[in-house]
Amino acid sequence: MDNSIWRKKPMHMFEQDMQKSELKRVLGKWSLTAIGIGAIIGGGVFVLTGTAAHYHAGPALAISFVIAGIGCIFAALCYAEFAAMLPVEGSAYAYAYGTVGELFAWIIGWGLILEYAMGAMTVAVSWSGYFNKLLHLFGIHLPENLTNDPVSYGGAAVNLPALVIVWFVTWILVKGIKEAASANNLIVVLKVAVILFVIIMGAFYIDVANWTPFIPEETLVQHESGEMLPAYGWGGIISGASAIFFAYIGFDAVSTQAGEAINPKKDMPFAIIASLLICTVLYIAVSLVLTGMLNYKDITGDALKAPVAFAFDVAGQPWAVFVITAAATAGLLSVMLVMMLGQTRVFLGMAKDGLLPKFFAEVHPTFKTPWKSTILVGAVVSIVAGFTPISLLGDMTSFGTLFAFTMVCLAVWILRFRDPNRDRPFKVSGLNIIAPLGIIVNTFLILNLGRTAQVFALIWLFFGLFVYFLYGRPKSHLNTRV
Ligand code: ALA
Repeated sequence: MDNSIWRKKPMHMFEQDMQKSELKRVLGKWSLTAIGIGAIIGGGVFVLTGTAAHYHAGPALAISFVIAGIGCIFAALCYAEFAAMLPVEGSAYAYAYGTVGELFAWIIGWGLILEYAMGAMTVAVSWSGYFNKLLHLFGIHLPENLTNDPVSYGGAAVNLPALVIVWFVTWILVKGIKEAASANNLIVVLKVAVILFVIIMGAFYIDVANWTPFIPEETLVQHESGEMLPAYGWGGIISGASAIFFAYIGFDAVSTQAGEAINPKKDMPFAIIASLLICTVLYIAVSLVLTGMLNYKDITGDALKAPVAFAFDVAGQPWAVFVITAAATAGLLSVMLVMMLGQTRVFLGMAKDGLLPKFFAEVHPTFKTPWKSTILVGAVVSIVAGFTPISLLGDMTSFGTLFAFTMVCLAVWILRFRDPNRDRPFKVSGLNIIAPLGIIVNTFLILNLGRTAQVFALIWLFFGLFVYFLYGRPKSHLNTRV
């Protein structure tokens, strides 16, 4: 028995697992692409664009989107090669288990909790913000103590909309992937339509004077905390890329659905790359329109909370504000859906390998979904979203994702040397350049995230190591399976 922390899960075990899978194979290539887009377009583009333009890049926000997009494309290509080769649930975790070893796999799985569960919490709270804004447009005002966490409110309070919406998503997920996919497809169509609407309609309100100079000179800008921090110039473009990276998170969630894909070897690479490319183009266009409609210096105060809607308010189009707010409210729902779906599928993969308790792998006899784990994830996400101030969580979500991206680039590269003759239904050309560039760009973006988030994320990863040695390693199926 191999007892080392570098032990790998042999490929034939993955194949056995795939044959035994109880999940239904119902997702085609466009459903998978919709899952990617459903997870990608969300709070990032509707909220962070304003912050990134005002505090970091100015009109050059479009360049920040290009840089973050390039980091993602490298990672997406590597994900695609893996997803076609190892179409199993568990995503980056499973890829690492088959290639670089158990400890790496565990740490990636643990890091993915930051991405998916914490991402879902962050999005639930953003959803609550948009939902309230929508209610305000109808003249309905919920009490402050029912729409805030206790810390932000300063007394007994709960963010009830955030808490309730997570249970609604949990219910859809327990009922079944097919239902979840249909709901997701509908929301994605709406979301893309509204983004196109913003681009086309917004283009008529662009004042090119707002783009001059396109890259403002580097200077210090006062943040809400009172701190003066450097902004603009090329430094600002780079820190802007880290700030808006959150907007790209999600295309990798496609790879967690491999167990439910009809033809994963062909369709996974397609969906991962297509969803990312579509969103990259849309994001660059939205950022150009936004910084053309509004001067980046004027995106302050309440405008920072909903900059895209604000731009149309300034343009004197209140009905457009309504359309954007309503679409963002619906759109964030699908981000949550895919994040929570991703989390349960990573847990499923880890539990099947014995690294987590069996509970996480129990599939419902009728719905064929990992219902117990879905309910547990729903409970945790809803409680945290209802009671915690989560300004930090966005950056921590980005940390977890960038970490997984870096590891996937590394693992796919290692496997090319270790097992060059393996059947690769999707083979990235120029991987010897793409993988190292992916590692460099994604690590660089990690280093540019907020310091506090970096510290918390590292603490989380170290805590994960502790759990691995206490539970995962002694219980791993590699101790007994051959
Ligand atoms: N990319 C997702 C969003 O922007 C997480 O909400």
